[in-house]
Amino acid sequence: MTATGQAQRHRPPGTTGPGALRCTGLRYSFGSTRAVDGVDLDVRPGEVFGLLGPNGAGKTTAIRVITTLLPVPAGMVEVFGHDCARERMAVRRLLGYVPQQLSADSGLTGRENVALFARVFDIPRRERADRVDAVLAAVGLTESADRLAGTYSGGMVRRLELAQALVSAPRLLILDEPTIGLDPIARTSVWEHITRVRVATGMTVLVTTHYMDEAEQYCDRVALMHRGRIRAVGTPEELRTGLGRAALAAGQTAADPSAAEPSATGPTVTEPTGPAGPTGPTATAPTLEDVFRHYAGSGLDGRESTEDGGDFSDVRRTRRTASRVG
Ligand SMILES: Nc1ncnc2c1ncn2[C@@H]1O[C@H](COP(=O)(O)OP(=O)(O)OP(=O)(O)O)[C@@H](O)[C@H]1O
Ligand SMILES: [Mg+2]
Repeated sequence: MTATGQAQRHRPPGTTGPGALRCTGLRYSFGSTRAVDGVDLDVRPGEVFGLLGPNGAGKTTAIRVITTLLPVPAGMVEVFGHDCARERMAVRRLLGYVPQQLSADSGLTGRENVALFARVFDIPRRERADRVDAVLAAVGLTESADRLAGTYSGGMVRRLELAQALVSAPRLLILDEPTIGLDPIARTSVWEHITRVRVATGMTVLVTTHYMDEAEQYCDRVALMHRGRIRAVGTPEELRTGLGRAALAAGQTAADPSAAEPSATGPTVTEPTGPAGPTGPTATAPTLEDVFRHYAGSGLDGRESTEDGGDFSDVRRTRRTASRVG
């Protein structure tokens, strides 16, 4: 773990006031496809919360409801106490959003892209130039600010999109697959910039990722989502430890069934549907990937397809942020 990751993980999230994000019984369907099927989430102020799940799990749909881009057809969603159905503008003012799809314009310079977002977010004209400069500096793009975004590398594009989302000084930053397709150095760079801003501002971060190592390193807590539902919630360590206990129990004929249950301080687990991960007391310590396979019933290694034929490995191989510009 990097020093930055350590600093982030050990920074205690705030516990007072309304939750940064609360979802209760959230559902969303596209025709007969139930993309989000009764999601409960409670993201605490100041924490980095990871929403993990395979292709088609419903992560982006849930995020689009939270960001008010989709209506709330069933359930309740609140951002810092503001209802996403009834107070959409108040919610939008609190949010920064880096969507899964490209949100930068290749025909504009980095600075022009961020300035556009500053106008959209109605930042007072006299403050705009300073705010744009500040967020470009915060993501390490000062030197490249006046180049066309179409000339940026994939990592620079993602950092530009981060600057666009940060220009409104959000209290809740939502990142949908912020590092997909980036090389390890670019991924680390994106996370280090997120971390630095988060530590400086105390903002809350909700992130989706397919990269278990990132979840492990940078997220205070994670929720495992599969087929529209949350299967387990906890710190990465709680989830791994919980699975270790379950594996031990599975390997002992006189096992205490409570060994697989969440402890008072451990993960919250709902409906484990998959096959057990490690199967005996001699199994090596479970990874977050093992935990995911256990609770969601689909592998991260490409050996089992998900409902729409994709898997984490496919996503890693095929999506290239860099190729999305230009
Ligand atoms: N605009 C749409 N119209 C119809 N169905 C949709 C639409 N968007 C998503 N879906 C379906 O809803 C389900 C959830 O999709 P969603 O994009 O939310 O998943 P995801 O977890 O973000 O996946 P990925 O990891 O691939 O980004 C899938 O079955 C998907 O096919
Ligand atoms: Mg998605």
